[in-house]
Amino acid sequence: MNELTASLRAQARAVLTANRRTGISSWEDRAYEYTCPSPGSYPFQWFWDSCFHAIALTHLDLERAKAEIRCLLQGAQPDGFLPHMILWQPDPERVATHTLRLRTPYLSASIQPPVVALAIERVYRASGDAAFLAETLPKAAAFFRWLRDHRDPDGDDLIAIVQPDESGVDASPKYDPLLGFPADNHELVRAIKALYARYDQFGNDDDRLIAANLFVVEDVLVNSIYAQGLHALARLAPDQDLADEYRGWAGRVLGALVAKCYDEDRGLFLDLLGVEERRTTVNTISALFPLIIPDLDPAIAERLVRDHVLNAAEYALPYPIPSVAADEPAFNPDHPHGFIWRGPSWVNSNWFLAHALHARGYVTEAARITDATRTLVATQGFRECFNPYTGEGQNARDFGWASLVIDLPDADLSGEHTQMPPH
Ligand code: GLC
Repeated sequence: MNELTASLRAQARAVLTANRRTGISSWEDRAYEYTCPSPGSYPFQWFWDSCFHAIALTHLDLERAKAEIRCLLQGAQPDGFLPHMILWQPDPERVATHTLRLRTPYLSASIQPPVVALAIERVYRASGDAAFLAETLPKAAAFFRWLRDHRDPDGDDLIAIVQPDESGVDASPKYDPLLGFPADNHELVRAIKALYARYDQFGNDDDRLIAANLFVVEDVLVNSIYAQGLHALARLAPDQDLADEYRGWAGRVLGALVAKCYDEDRGLFLDLLGVEERRTTVNTISALFPLIIPDLDPAIAERLVRDHVLNAAEYALPYPIPSVAADEPAFNPDHPHGFIWRGPSWVNSNWFLAHALHARGYVTEAARITDATRTLVATQGFRECFNPYTGEGQNARDFGWASLVIDLPDADLSGEHTQMPPH
């Protein structure tokens, strides 16, 4: 380990320690132990953030990594649903600063990308703790079944999100046509509040939410993480039949992404808007995400890498990878008042894509993302996101998932459990 990586590891430990939250909730007197994304703006437990925190914690404190996942899975509902937020200590004033649909006073009614299977796999591989796996895997598997049963009413193997923050890339311009083309965050929040008000009549009936077609997106990023997670479930499955079932299921998701979302002319995957499945035209980071699916056709992957990841007009900016291609009219390298995911670079998407490139043999290209990400975090701190031209850190500070910087692929990964499961 060189000086830079040692120092980043120490800083990651400090941030994840400062963001640790423990206590007893008024929700059935349950004990909680989780890491909040950022003490100032994000005090609650968020689903994919916790998965990223657990993965970073595999390098620092395996017991905490397990606790993070166990705490998250306390949100599991009898039908398999897992909420995107758990409000262990609901604080009305702070809750009001977030635009939320709640299922109970403690649980949101929304999902986030299902990173949980991969996170469990990483914690299990680092710890070898079979009891942890036996305890957690069924809940993750039940969530994947919930997604299939409740979010794919047209049965095309792609799951739908019903509000922007379910993808984790909340304000991405790819959603603009469904939200009246908001000019700023203020207009976006207004559009989302109006959407939730209309959803009130449907309660938590996902079939009716989707049928209403007010905001339905078969999102490429979400479905890529879904397929990646199904591969993790297949690798962890207790028997061959189940492993085959998950692998076949993942294969169908990938098949649907290629058949329905892949634009051969542009060499990009494009999200599907509305139940009528109109392809978005906007080139966002989502378009690259099928790279994380192990069995994506290498010829398609090659186009994604050569024509887009490495294209200086789109994604190969000084501090890659921007969340929107730089030649898009909506691209904004800054982060004006929370209008996020419209240009800045983020550590979690760099982590996904650097590992995907590395696993596919694009070792130098992956190392460039690793180096740029380390430089960003080392010079700017654990910020929420970064300007892709200047590197300037933006929005939240002491941001938990920036700790994924200690889990990026190096040109030589031999022997380290940073290594992601095989592609
Ligand atoms: C922002 C991000 C979302 C994340 C949340 C908490 O809303 O867009 O992906 O989960 O903050 O960090």
